[in-house]
Amino acid sequence: STIPDVEALLQQMSLEEKIGQLNLLTPGGGVATGSVVSKNVESKIKAGQVGGLFGVAGPERVRKAQDIAVKNSRLKIPLLIGSDVIHGYKTTYPIPLGLSSSWDMDLIQKAARMAAQEATADGIMWNFSPMVDIARDPRWGRIAEGAGEDPYLGSKIAEAMVKGYQGNDLTAPNTMLACVKHFALYGASEAGRDYHSVDMSKTKMYNQYLPPYKAAVDAGVASVMTSFNDVDGIPATGNHWLLTNLLRKEWQFDGFVVSDYTSLNEMIAHGLGDLQQVSKLALKAGLDMDMVGEGFLTTLKKSVEEGKISEDEITQACRRVLQAKYQAGLFEDPYRYLDTNRPEKDILTKENRAVARKLAAHSFVLLKNHNQILPVNKRQKIALIGPLADSRNNMLGTWAPTGDSKLAVTILEGVKNVAPEAEINFAKGANISDDKEFAKKINVFGPRIVIDTRSPETLLQEAVAAAKKSDVVVAVVGEATEMSGESASRTDISIPDSQKKLIRALVATGKPVALVLMSGRPLTIPEEFEMPVSILQVWHPGVEAGNAIADVLFGDEVPSGKLTASWPRNVGQIPIYHSVKNTGRPGPKDEFEKFKTNYLDAPNSPLIPFGYGLSYTNFAYSNLKVDKPEINQGESLKVQVIVTNTGSYDGAEVVQLYLRDVVRSITPPVRQLKGFQKVFLKKGESQNITLTLKPEDLKFYNSSLEFVAEPGEFEVYVGTDSACTLKTSFILK
Ligand code: IFM
Repeated sequence: STIPDVEALLQQMSLEEKIGQLNLLTPGGGVATGSVVSKNVESKIKAGQVGGLFGVAGPERVRKAQDIAVKNSRLKIPLLIGSDVIHGYKTTYPIPLGLSSSWDMDLIQKAARMAAQEATADGIMWNFSPMVDIARDPRWGRIAEGAGEDPYLGSKIAEAMVKGYQGNDLTAPNTMLACVKHFALYGASEAGRDYHSVDMSKTKMYNQYLPPYKAAVDAGVASVMTSFNDVDGIPATGNHWLLTNLLRKEWQFDGFVVSDYTSLNEMIAHGLGDLQQVSKLALKAGLDMDMVGEGFLTTLKKSVEEGKISEDEITQACRRVLQAKYQAGLFEDPYRYLDTNRPEKDILTKENRAVARKLAAHSFVLLKNHNQILPVNKRQKIALIGPLADSRNNMLGTWAPTGDSKLAVTILEGVKNVAPEAEINFAKGANISDDKEFAKKINVFGPRIVIDTRSPETLLQEAVAAAKKSDVVVAVVGEATEMSGESASRTDISIPDSQKKLIRALVATGKPVALVLMSGRPLTIPEEFEMPVSILQVWHPGVEAGNAIADVLFGDEVPSGKLTASWPRNVGQIPIYHSVKNTGRPGPKDEFEKFKTNYLDAPNSPLIPFGYGLSYTNFAYSNLKVDKPEINQGESLKVQVIVTNTGSYDGAEVVQLYLRDVVRSITPPVRQLKGFQKVFLKKGESQNITLTLKPEDLKFYNSSLEFVAEPGEFEVYVGTDSACTLKTSFILK
């Protein structure tokens, strides 16, 4: 597609100016996630050598940059201003893995809308989000940034986020261009090590890993960011099959493609050639914009002169970048996002903080509730223990560069706000980790792990004393913020030893213990899960952390989150996910059987399955049925079930539908999520829930990569998590 204004502008542009538009720089001030930071940004903008910037925010700063482009460069082309607005702009909400656990698409869309409202008020019109990489390896630190293991849920979330950021009109001053990332397969990096290689079959790619990116494209996402990894032996940033055949030809994507931070230059280390060679490869593959590395800026002209690429190829990339600027309304008014009255009106408002508090409470997952320790009665003596109980620096979670941890509410503060009548006995109890070398690696962006001047023994004694004089213990334990996220992979994903000792000592007091578990990933907690404790998983909840946690602890909010990634028993089970294949030698559920697919030392099942999450109330499922025993190709099917709140609280339940295609031409997963609905039920209330299976829900990509539904039997499971057993079936003719 062509836009007349853009075509007219292209006519006036020199080769150098076109190449300039393909250059994305960061002048510093943001968080640099690589060793390179852009230099001489101002003079480059004047010279028409910059298409966009990130790491610049606030109407005044952005105006300064925009002024240089619009007043001092020959063609006065405005800059695209980008940012990583990953889980809220200044009003930070839970990390994306937490947000996904709400399974609430309206809330997720609203969260993205709120982030766009705030970011655009600060002059930013391009967001490096959503991150939709399917992740089945919790060692990978960036599992925190996505929606977990499942392509169906991941696709719904991708769509909700794109719609939330982009709204209906991209030129509106409160909407922003979204950028789906990291294309593609970044979440499947070998052994969970960040930036590592990826290798997988095309059928696995199409069926399990690509759907969320495609869902974002189908929802009209304006841009795509490539990933650091290779895909089938070719780095994503220079992968012609990926960026042209799949993205543009098959999926009809018509926006622009940006590299990740120096991922173009990193093709040299991948072993693909020198900077000129890899820049040529990337441009020809379909990359339009080069983030930070200046490979395009410094080599493309030479490649044209040497006949290695044509000017037309550069014009095409430039066209796409200019079209995005046009879409954002920048040619009409380069200052449209620069209203100095907006930040105060739109950012960190009381209303936005209230939304963040709700989002956080709805993202928590109740993993265990021994003896109904939760909710806690407000009129009691409460021992509030743990290194994360009063740790403002660890509330926002990874990749919240635009947030301000100083504004975060700690759990200690939240508990005091929500239960002023409670008597609180606070003690730190342990360091997040006692390992000084480890702490140094975690503290790169500020003090996340602060090793106390008191000895570990003294901390422990204080905690035990506080527990003994209280009625109930709430222990806030887990990972510091920077223990997950980019470049934060772990081979041991258990609770650090210092805190394990604390938990054991607290349980040994015999007092009722509720663990508030904070992390950016599924953890291995086999020991804690066996203990007589309650466990509330709260991820990293954002700026309203303490208030939201207190809301749930005291029962003002009833937990309704469900896991979006399986929790393994140990790292040896990884990768682990619910939609595994049966194999030719299906393993027994729990005990070992020789010559079957299983382990000698652990069952196949995860410790806690995908979709799992308890409530303070209980839900019963009955009367599962399908509206037709047989359907034809192209027909939909209604699945009905009665869900009853049988407990003593009003609460919400995520009703989940899993499908098993019994026989098909490529090996089917044992079950796959194909529908869900979050329903709110008053205590005692029953509802007849209808979930609709659409024709595409029965389809998969076969060996020829055709998207087909094959005739035969389908089993339907509906229930409270991926291990549900209520079953019916139907036939596709
Ligand atoms: O958007 C990010 C990406 O997720 C990781 N590398 C840096 C980019 C820009 O900050």
